[in-house]
Parts: sequence; structure tokens; C-alpha cells
Amino acid sequence: MVDQQIWKQLCKLFKIYTQIYFFMNERQVEIKRWFDWVYQKKSFSYLRPPEAYDIFISILKPKENGIALDVACGLGLLLKKLIEKGVISYGIDISTEAINQSKTYCPEANLTIGNAENLPFDNNTFDYITCIGSLERMLDRRKVLAEQKRVAKKNATFCYMVRNSENFTWKYLLNPLKLKNSSGNQDALSYDEWKNLFESCGLQILNVYPDHWPYLRLRKSLFPFRTDYGKLRRFPFNICYAYEFIFLLSKNE
Ligand SMILES: C[S@@+](CC[C@H](N)C(=O)[O-])C[C@H]1O[C@@H](n2cnc3c(N)ncnc32)[C@H](O)[C@@H]1O
Repeated sequence: MVDQQIWKQLCKLFKIYTQIYFFMNERQVEIKRWFDWVYQKKSFSYLRPPEAYDIFISILKPKENGIALDVACGLGLLLKKLIEKGVISYGIDISTEAINQSKTYCPEANLTIGNAENLPFDNNTFDYITCIGSLERMLDRRKVLAEQKRVAKKNATFCYMVRNSENFTWKYLLNPLKLKNSSGNQDALSYDEWKNLFESCGLQILNVYPDHWPYLRLRKSLFPFRTDYGKLRRFPFNICYAYEFIFLLSKNE
């Protein structure tokens, strides 16, 4: 009996380590180590607060009992919102520390440590695929998108938040002053570059929204009890200058 339990634990450890290291190159191991370190040190304070994730639910409009995969799920903040909507939720992240903390924050989710370039899921499994603030950090984005398409059902919906290289902060501060976080592989693309990437990977753009959080954070400090974080708003500027973009997409088949 005891032998069987030890054997089970060893198999589990072996599975975790092969998932982590077999599918990763040296740079990915470095990125994973940086995220392990940052989550150990800062935990939730590294990420946006829970209310900042309401907007993704408003955009995705997931149906009860739908099946969602959050790729690079971090500490499980979006997974928790999906579960509150009755969605069967899966999360995967390269960081062991992220997944360990997610298991405490969001125990109802199915959580896996793994690399977005090799998703350990069957073809045609998910109704919804989300990837928030993470695609720009991935080394082989085309492979990541191909994997997400593979595991998505035919009529699945995809929601990505990605960083804009034309935004003032990136263009005039982070990038030229070399302040971008290279250990965590921080990167950005312009609106046209993201659009071309998604379309050339066989995804169809349904809608694009500017990231609402810079505005909502300001509003929160002025009217903390009168802010609807899930409300979609119109902004009086061209989308090309948004801080980040939120793309809603479907498979182009
Ligand atoms: C800025 S955090 C965003 C976390 C989460 N999506 C959120 O918005 O709360 C970026 C996440 O990407 C994960 N990540 C980076 N490269 C990855 C990869 N190749 N496969 C899976 N996760 C990855 C990191 O571990 C980290 O949790």
C-alpha cells in the first residue's frame, strides 16, 4: 500500500518534470525561473487586482458549462471569474510557483504546469481560449497560436490581451531606455503586426478593444464604489494608441 503511494508520487513528479524540462529550451527555463521568483516575491501584487479581469468576461461572454482554457494563467485570476460564470475551467502556466498559488486561490480549476508551445490537451477540446498579457512574452508565437487552434473546438472563441509597441510608455520609455523586462521576455507589437500575426495563423478577428484598465484604475481612485469594471466603454482615441489591445477572435475555417 505504502509502496503504491510512493510509486504514484514518483510518477506524478516525473510527469511534472518531463512536462517542464523536456519541452523547454534554455531561454524558456530562464523565463520560467524569473516568473517563479517574481510570484514567490510579489505574489498577487505583481498582477492586476481581481476586478480588472471582469472586462474579459464581458468581452468573451462565456456560456455556463462551456469549457475554457486560460493559457499562461498566472495565479488564476481569470479562471476564478470564469468559474463564477459556471464555466469548466483549465489553466496552464510555465511557472511552478504560479500553478501552486493558483491551486490555493482557485481550487476548482484544472491546473497544469506546462509550456504553451506544447499543450498537453486533445484536439477540439475547448470552447474558449484566453491568453492575457502573455502572448508577447512567448518565444515562438506562431507555435503557441497553432497549439491553441489545435485544442480549440471548431466554433471556439479566443480572447487575447497583448501589448502595443506604439503606446507612449513602450515607445518612448520602456523600449528606448532599455527598461523593458528582458528576464520575463517582455515584448510588444503594433496593432497591424498583431493583426497580421493572428490572420496569418488562421484566426479571424471578431472585434478589438482597447485595454480598459489604465482608465478604470484612475476611476477606481476617484469613485471606488461607483465603478463598473465589466462595462465596455467607448474611448475618444484611435485604437492604435491603446496601452494594450484585447482581441476577440474565432477560427477561420
Ligand atoms: C504577465 S503574466 C500574466 C498572467 C495571467 N495571464 C494574468 O493576466 O493574470 C505572464 C504569464 O505568462 C507565463 N508564461 C510565459 N511564457 C510561458 C510559456 N511559454 N508557456 C506558459 N506560460 C508562460 C508566465 O509564467 C506568467 O504567469
